[in-house]
Amino acid sequence: MRGQRSRARGRRVAVLLEPGVLEGVARTTIAKLRRAGYITLESVAATPVRELVERTGMGEPTAVKVSHLARMMVDPGFVPAREVLERRKDMMRCTTGSSRLDGILGGGVETGAITELIGEFGSGKTQICMTLSVTAQQPPEEGGLGGRVAVIDTENTFLPERVVQIAESRGIDAEKVLNGLLVARCYNTDHLVILIDSLSRLVEEQRVRLVIVDSMIGHFRGEYIGRENLAPRQQKLGSCLSRLLRLAETSNIAVVVTNQVQATPNVNYGDPNKPTGGHVMGHACTHRVYLRKGKANTRLARVIDSPSLPEVRVRFAITEKGVEDAEEE
Ligand SMILES: Nc1ncnc2c1ncn2[C@@H]1O[C@H](COP(=O)(O)OP(=O)(O)OP(=O)(O)O)[C@@H](O)[C@H]1O
Ligand SMILES: [Mg+2]
Repeated sequence: MRGQRSRARGRRVAVLLEPGVLEGVARTTIAKLRRAGYITLESVAATPVRELVERTGMGEPTAVKVSHLARMMVDPGFVPAREVLERRKDMMRCTTGSSRLDGILGGGVETGAITELIGEFGSGKTQICMTLSVTAQQPPEEGGLGGRVAVIDTENTFLPERVVQIAESRGIDAEKVLNGLLVARCYNTDHLVILIDSLSRLVEEQRVRLVIVDSMIGHFRGEYIGRENLAPRQQKLGSCLSRLLRLAETSNIAVVVTNQVQATPNVNYGDPNKPTGGHVMGHACTHRVYLRKGKANTRLARVIDSPSLPEVRVRFAITEKGVEDAEEE
């Protein structure tokens, strides 16, 4: 069952959670799992039992059984590294619109991972997201992921007019792009949890290949004020991020989140800003891209804390095309 491959492109596809897939598990239990957003066997296998109990309302013995069965079917345990390497070939990359920015990301925004865009206001986070919402819908041979894009917009800054401009100036059919772009306005962190719940279904049923959360941190900073609220804030943020990462890994989609910066006091030289969200954010996100304003319409990007990418700084520009390479100086 593990690693079913689609005939189209040899890509691994997830196994849908349907009655009969898990032997001896009642239809009502499957229905509960699906209602809670667990649409694939992979997502059940990757979820802690405690979370299954909390989110579906099923008893712990049932959750243990379901989790065990799902894992037996999709998780082989230890495998030779050669197989890990083979599976990584399923990974796809999406162009940001700037070949230099793609370059520091190892060729673009990758699937199976969370890419975090960090920067102060106006540093280009939302512009990169809007450009990706156009490029990701293009076929892989044109640098895209060949699927739809889902956006969770917490700041009401994801503007369809701008998406149209980016598509048209790239010679791409804007109407098609808008049809393949699903946008949810998100009002608070509880709403964010609900929207993340619904993503698994979107990914499987609507062929979503890129999920964007802009911004990941905004509502958390606004709702949880003061030191005494830091622990519950971080716990909820961590849970949202780990569910996004599981979705990225089990469905092999790309996830892009944005993060703000905060000034650290007593910094005498260098950049006084650091990413918000603390260790929870830093650990959950696979690739962290730090953005800074440059001269005129240019921006500087640097990958920080990456397990596989070097810390190189590149310059890109924000233009009517969205994001593109800056002209040489
Ligand atoms: N159509 C456009 N053409 C060229 N530049 C644009 C266009 N639209 C926006 N910009 C530029 O993009 C910048 C805003 O970037 P963006 O909205 O991505 O910032 P951000 O990092 O998301 O900031 P925030 O933290 O406030 O959300 C502004 O400098 C603006 O001039
Ligand atoms: Mg923004």
